[in-house]
Amino acid sequence: MSSISDSFENVNKAFSRQSEIYDDYDSNNPTLTWMRQQVRNHVLKFLRKEDTILEINSGTGIDAEYFARQGHKIHCTDLSDGMIEQMKIKFSSGELAEKVTVQQCSFTELDKVQNKKFDFIFSNFGGLNCVDDLKKVTKFFPELLNKNGRVCLVILPPICPWEIIQLFRGKFSLAFRRFHKNGVLANVEGIKFQTYYFSANDIMKSLSNKFDLLSVSSLGLSTPIPQMDKIPKRFPKFTKVLNKIDEKISGIYPFNRMGDHIIVTAVYKGN
Ligand SMILES: C[S@@+](CC[C@H](N)C(=O)[O-])C[C@H]1O[C@@H](n2cnc3c(N)ncnc32)[C@H](O)[C@@H]1O
Repeated sequence: MSSISDSFENVNKAFSRQSEIYDDYDSNNPTLTWMRQQVRNHVLKFLRKEDTILEINSGTGIDAEYFARQGHKIHCTDLSDGMIEQMKIKFSSGELAEKVTVQQCSFTELDKVQNKKFDFIFSNFGGLNCVDDLKKVTKFFPELLNKNGRVCLVILPPICPWEIIQLFRGKFSLAFRRFHKNGVLANVEGIKFQTYYFSANDIMKSLSNKFDLLSVSSLGLSTPIPQMDKIPKRFPKFTKVLNKIDEKISGIYPFNRMGDHIIVTAVYKGN
């Protein structure tokens, strides 16, 4: 039986339902494949050789598998029964079993990760958009990190140009959905739950002055959002040009503050 608190019950149900088709959807979506590669390239710039990783909202463990193959030890956490099940299938035996450990745990209850310190905390693809206040998660980071440990959070920000231009197609609620102060109902596999959008400033504020900012980048600014997967499938060459534009401008202000996601990386200074 799951030990997940009631506030995340629908999140658990939705992602558990999605967990069985998650890897196929991910690998067949050209934009998600490109975005995941961008995130990995970014993480590799900040990850040191022997770093141990705590991954929160790790889903089915797609990135965990990648970083374990790079030689890192990684502790994966997620709240969804289905996602945990998928990770157990992937990692409980075989060549990566020594590198990857799995624990069912909400990122609002990271005190359940006991007696462990890590060099790197990683959250990919908007898991943190499921919490209303990032401090409910980041308050645990100092206890979990070694001095000079790094944090890399990939989160959906309020400004997404591909959604805003939907205004011209009369899709008003999609165009402005990220601006709602009290969040927006997401629908994953027919199950609804509240989601919230955070700017780079919100993210840094939640980390507090115990952290120094290392980098802010956009992810998917001129590239159409992953849900518009017909565009890369019909116009692959054009999409590659948009990918290249993104790769050039992703770190430049103010472009680095907007997009489908942003990647915020910071270093823990210690107490
Ligand atoms: C869009 S998926 C991203 C999964 C993975 N990071 C990836 O890149 O494929 C979002 C994940 O966040 C997880 N999640 C949502 N709320 C959570 C919470 N409170 N604690 C831990 N994980 C959570 C979901 O179960 C889901 O696996």
